[in-house]
Amino acid sequence: MNHTDALDRAFTQARTHSAFKPDAIPDATLQQLQQLSQWGPTAFNSQPARYVFVRSSEGKQKLSACLSPGNVAKVAAAPVTVIVAMDTRFYEHLPTQFPHNPGLRAGLEADAARAHATAFRNSSLQGAYLMVAARLLGLDCGPMSGFDAQALDNAFFPDGRWRSNFLVNLGYGDDSQLHPRGPRLDFSECATFL
Ligand SMILES: Cc1cc2nc3c(=O)[nH]c(=O)nc-3n(C[C@H](O)[C@H](O)[C@H](O)COP(=O)(O)O)c2cc1C
Repeated sequence: MNHTDALDRAFTQARTHSAFKPDAIPDATLQQLQQLSQWGPTAFNSQPARYVFVRSSEGKQKLSACLSPGNVAKVAAAPVTVIVAMDTRFYEHLPTQFPHNPGLRAGLEADAARAHATAFRNSSLQGAYLMVAARLLGLDCGPMSGFDAQALDNAFFPDGRWRSNFLVNLGYGDDSQLHPRGPRLDFSECATFL
């Protein structure tokens, strides 16, 4: 893949998909997805994101019960729906993942608001890295936040340690079902030089 192809695949030609071809995603591709996206940066290498690759009919049923009505058919059509979650006790891994600062773990454990902000911000970033990696691997994505997070967490994470952030449908998109693409803000509307 040359430079232009990569930019097209990751950004300019990549669309949010709601309809997917029936092709399954190989396990090795899902593993590669995690292995690539893990290299994206997180604050003090905290890596709070956790992933549940939901693909069994039992898993999909459990997930469907938590979705906004408009998202049910999208999840049913996708070969895999990823729950991008966050580990509320991500700081337990800091002694091995960020050994340069031995006081961090205790500091975060004692400060719930800072721990939550860190987990939410960085798991969101990791979810975005996952989507870019998926696109570069030739997959299509459909991110979703239309679901009852409390119901999903009760169903999938009953011990309360992991909490959901957002969902991503994954598969090989059916381009014939795409709507025209929405516009984007101009540089001057969303960015400035200082
Ligand atoms: C965090 C997030 C949550 C979203 N939630 C939903 C959703 O619940 N249902 C849905 O149909 N689309 C959802 N979308 C899809 C967006 O509407 C879509 O990505 C956006 O309009 C850009 O479309 P495009 O990639 O085709 O240009 C979500 C996207 C993101 C990033």
